[in-house]
Amino acid sequence: MNEPVAPAATLVIFGAMGDLTSRLLVPALVNLTRDGLIGDTLAIIGIDRDLASDEALRAKLDRFHDDPGEPSWTRVRARCTYLHGDFTDPATFARLAEHLPDAAANVCFYLATTPTFFGGIIDALAGVGLLAQAGGFRRIVVEKPFGHDLASAQALNARILKVADECQIYRIDHFLGKETVRNIMVTRFGNAVFESLWNNSHIDHVQITAAESLGVERRGKFYDATGALRDMVPNHLFQLLAMIGMEPPNSFEAAAMRAEKAKLIDAVRAPTPAQATTDAVRGRYRAGQAQGQDLPDFLAEDAVDPASRTETFVAMKLMVDSWRWAGVPFYLRTGKALSARDTEVVIVFKPVPLALFRDTDVTHLAPNRLVIQVQPDEAISLDFIAKKPGPMVDTTPVSMVFSYADTFRPGHTTGYEALLYDVMIGDQSLFQRADEIEGAWRAVQPFLDAWAQSREPPEDYVAGTCGPSGAEALIARDGRQWHALG
Ligand code: BG6
Repeated sequence: MNEPVAPAATLVIFGAMGDLTSRLLVPALVNLTRDGLIGDTLAIIGIDRDLASDEALRAKLDRFHDDPGEPSWTRVRARCTYLHGDFTDPATFARLAEHLPDAAANVCFYLATTPTFFGGIIDALAGVGLLAQAGGFRRIVVEKPFGHDLASAQALNARILKVADECQIYRIDHFLGKETVRNIMVTRFGNAVFESLWNNSHIDHVQITAAESLGVERRGKFYDATGALRDMVPNHLFQLLAMIGMEPPNSFEAAAMRAEKAKLIDAVRAPTPAQATTDAVRGRYRAGQAQGQDLPDFLAEDAVDPASRTETFVAMKLMVDSWRWAGVPFYLRTGKALSARDTEVVIVFKPVPLALFRDTDVTHLAPNRLVIQVQPDEAISLDFIAKKPGPMVDTTPVSMVFSYADTFRPGHTTGYEALLYDVMIGDQSLFQRADEIEGAWRAVQPFLDAWAQSREPPEDYVAGTCGPSGAEALIARDGRQWHALG
């Protein structure tokens, strides 16, 4: 591969002492350095409110590298500097301006902070002139969650777009950095065999699942204020939905890709108030054991309000009003404390007529399924029916499997490598445009409104199971069932 080395730039990380920086961003920079995709011309300035020094930041980051003497890490380490400052204090931004090389330098500002700071930081950067592109680029990476409902997402977009151009904004969704998610495009559009079946003539329904076996861990406060829907659906699950459902773009260029994704998201039907109460189920975990780990009740988790009505699981049915998808339901589900970690997309094809088998013992044939396993065991499998060996006509479902690990033996990545590299080279194709984000919130807002008015708490499920029974009922109502987790 001949990818160019990213241009010389300064990466300013707001939230330098946070988990995201140490666990994901800096290790991704090290991997990119090892692969020769970023060079020693990348300077890193970490900003945070802790009283710390360059060396204190580097020592903290050392802990996240198995071998602190590893050459790529040593190279990145030497270029990490620390700037102490409050994100709400104008003096922080004046000092930052002094630290940056000159007005023509390339600078990327990464907001790895809690969302309450996003708007203020961007306004303050603009206030000291740091977003003006005078020769070099000035880019802003905004983490999730982007808004907590439609109105707040619209307000945040409006606030940012007042001081920066859309081409400067990189709204991150880390699912788009996952190899298996990026491969959806290639699988769909690089193979005639799949794309020719990819429509409502052949597909019965689609299931999109992001199941986690862990509970809320140390994020009780954030999660209690957020819940499963806001945390996962309008961002990660809608991005998967868009990749699966979009029309073929004219190229892999950002403008073409994002236009098609936005079009698909716009075609997702927002439920009526009545549908919003019947087409989604929310759950909340009770104490149990998931993957060998004891979990408490969600309500007993650290920093969770004991009277909380926040959901830790959601399942919903969505329809997409396009020619390709008319009549094909998309079932989405996500939750914490489930029986397995399992992120997957399952395309379930329509059944075949059974006429051929009428004089045999075969009374039912499992439908063909294409399972795109996003994680943890990255794979694509195609389930089909084969004849069991023997004199009688008897059938059994079998599977053809492509496993990433067996085929490519990929090295360990954090999932942020492609995203950071793309920010540096100015490729926005893996980032969400304002209308994608707002379109997704528009489609889920009726569910949030219905829950806000409801007196019912979320339905309980025991940790380590596959969620509340209402989720089974939601899909069973249509004569279908969820693909088993794990
Ligand atoms: C984050 C959510 O965006 O995605 C977390 O805030 C969730 O709650 C995580 O655990 C899942 O990401 P991944 O890559 O581990 O599947």
